[in-house]
This record gives sequence, C-alpha cells and structure tokens, in this order.
Amino acid sequence: MNLSNYILLFVILMCSEIVLAGRDFYKILGVSKGASLHEIKKAYRRLAKELHPDKNKDDEDASKKFQDLGAAYEVLADEEKRKKYDRCGEDCLQKDGMMDGGMDPFASFFGDFGFHFGGEQKHEIPRGADLVMDIFVTLEDLYTGNFIEITRNKPVMKPSHGTRKCNCRQEMVTRNLGPGRFQMMQQTVCDECPNVKLVNEERTLEMEVEAGMVDGQQTRFVAEGEPHLDGEPGDLILKIKTQSHPVFERRGDDLYTNVTISLQDALIGFTIELQHLDGHVISVTRDKITWPGARIRKKGEGMPNYENNNLHGTLFITFDVEFPKQELSSEDKEAIKKILNQSSNNKVYNGLGGH
Ligand SMILES: *[C@@H]1O[C@H](CO)[C@@H](O)[C@H](O)[C@H]1NC(C)=O
Ligand SMILES: *[C@@H]1O[C@H](CO)[C@@H](O)[C@H](O)[C@H]1NC(C)=O
Repeated sequence: MNLSNYILLFVILMCSEIVLAGRDFYKILGVSKGASLHEIKKAYRRLAKELHPDKNKDDEDASKKFQDLGAAYEVLADEEKRKKYDRCGEDCLQKDGMMDGGMDPFASFFGDFGFHFGGEQKHEIPRGADLVMDIFVTLEDLYTGNFIEITRNKPVMKPSHGTRKCNCRQEMVTRNLGPGRFQMMQQTVCDECPNVKLVNEERTLEMEVEAGMVDGQQTRFVAEGEPHLDGEPGDLILKIKTQSHPVFERRGDDLYTNVTISLQDALIGFTIELQHLDGHVISVTRDKITWPGARIRKKGEGMPNYENNNLHGTLFITFDVEFPKQELSSEDKEAIKKILNQSSNNKVYNGLGGH
C-alpha cells in the first residue's frame, strides 16, 4: 500500500467514525444494514426475551443493554428515523428530538410484564380472566413468517374520586357479651382503597407468526387479558387459525393443489408454472400422457417445518383433465381413431368397492 492509499484509508476511517458517533443500532440488534422490518422485529423479539433485566439479575449492565436494545428498535423500526440514522447517526436524531425513548416496544411484543416481574409474586392475589382468541392468519404468513399488528382496546384502571371497599376477606371476630361470655363470628372485613375506574386504552400488540406454525399454537401476552379491580389482569392468549387458501391446502407440513389441464395437453405433454406462497415459481413439465387424477409430488415444496425451518414437506399436485366440448366431424373422429388405435374397453365394476 502506498502513501496515498494510507491517507485515503485514514480519511475513510475518520468519516465512518463521524457517521457512527453514538450507538450502532444495527450491531445491537445483530442485523445487517439492509435488514427488512420483519428481520428487525424478529431480532428485537428474540433479544428482548434474552436480555430482559429481570432475567439477568447478575449482570450490572443488563438494564443498559436492554435500553440500548429498545432504542435500536425504536429507530430502526421507524422508516423516517431509520433513514435519518443511516444518514448521520444517533447524534443527529437526538439533535432533532427524534429519540424520545417514550415508547416501550417490549410491551407490544410480550404484554405488560411489569405486573409479573415486579416484586414478589403472592399467590393469593386475585387475577382477572385470561382471554383466549383465535387469530386468522394467511397461509402465506405461515410459510414465510410475519408479524401481525393487533390493535386492542384494553380496559385500564385509572384513579377516580372517593374510595371503595377492597381486599375484602372473611375474619373471625370475638365479641365480649358480658363476664365470661364471648361470641365468635365470621365477618367480612375490607380495606378502604382509592377509587378506580376502567378506561379503554388503545394498545398495539405485535404477534409473531413463525414460519411453520400450526393451528392452535398460542402466543401469550402477559397482563393483556381481563382486568381485576383488586388484583392483576389476566393474560391474552392468541391462537393461530389458518385461513383457507384458494390454491393450496395444508395437511401437516404437506401442501396439496389441483391443476386442470386440457385433454390435448394431457395427451401430448405440457409445461405449467405455478406460483408458491412466497412468490417463487415452480415449473412442472411432462411429456408422457397424464391421466385425470394423476398426482405428482415435489419434495421440499411443502410448508417449512416449525422446529426446523430448513426442512419442508412435500407439495402434491393432482391433475384433472378438461375434455373438449365442441362437436367432432366424422373426419376428425376417423383421425382420432387412427391415432389412438384404442379398442373399446367396457369393463363394468363396483367403483365404491364396498365403501
Ligand atoms: C384435488 O386433489 C385431491 C388430491 O390431492 C383429490 O382428492 C380431489 O378430488 C381433487 N379435486 C378435484 C376437484 O379434482
Ligand atoms: C392397432 O392395434 C392392434 C392391436 O390392438 C395392432 O394389431 C395394430 O397393429 C395397431 N395398428 C397400428 C396402426 O398401430
């Protein structure tokens, strides 16, 4: 390397130093500069679970790492902030007041964990009911994986005027009825608590549909269920349900589809192309005769396996044949007879075979 190259390298290093003043959000999330929003959400969701301070009590940097992660997500998940960050780094965003740090992405991915992580968990704390809901997802999302944004009107407790009876319980009390005479009885005893009212607040939840998930699989959002005035809210549980698809049917990790071909193609062969769930094209070529009901299998073109996304099921393609509707002339009939040279085969049989 000659001197001018050294100088050039030095200048490049200086420049990148300037651009990257502040935190490297891509590095924090472990994604590339070109990462899609889906990849960013996926990375955040995975790391947030791993780095949550309550799970890393021994690490004194835990809360800083977690904050860095939140800031990285706040910026990279927002198109405008990300553009600005790419251009001139975190300092620039800070100068323009675009790093408010006000949002808590954690809650939108996992629910309101503050209720569970905070302090000792007492077993007698009453709990609101869990809400279980079906979420209809497309086969496309189950094939590639995706995030679904769910807006929920959540009843949230807010302080209100006055007081109310709370933490009510049964207690034995003894009453002195005179010398040597006591009465013991059960009584309902309550505390006085500040009054609360339930106010609907809009929450955005991000549900991750992971590639290969199956019907019935659940995602739990902590404390996003029914509220309880004297205790904790229940959880919200979202269950995957697959929407029916116009082209593909799923059975386990296999996919099934039907294709109608013309009689002519059935006899002389054909090439067809069909588009898969992620848009890639599968082509099928045949030069042999194809019977109605003939089925070909494409290994590895089924759904990704949930446990191991590199494994895929099989795609089964079943053909049916559309016969021509037009009248054939007697010359045509003779020509067909000559070509096919098929003797009449009138085999009579019980097609249901006892079923
Ligand atoms: C579609 O294919 C399946 C087998 O994969 C078959 O059972 C079904 O009858 C076919 N449907 C039609 C309309 O041909
Ligand atoms: C037609 O089929 C018969 C047997 O079914 C055979 O003997 C004959 O050679 C065939 N003709 C032609 C033109 O292939």
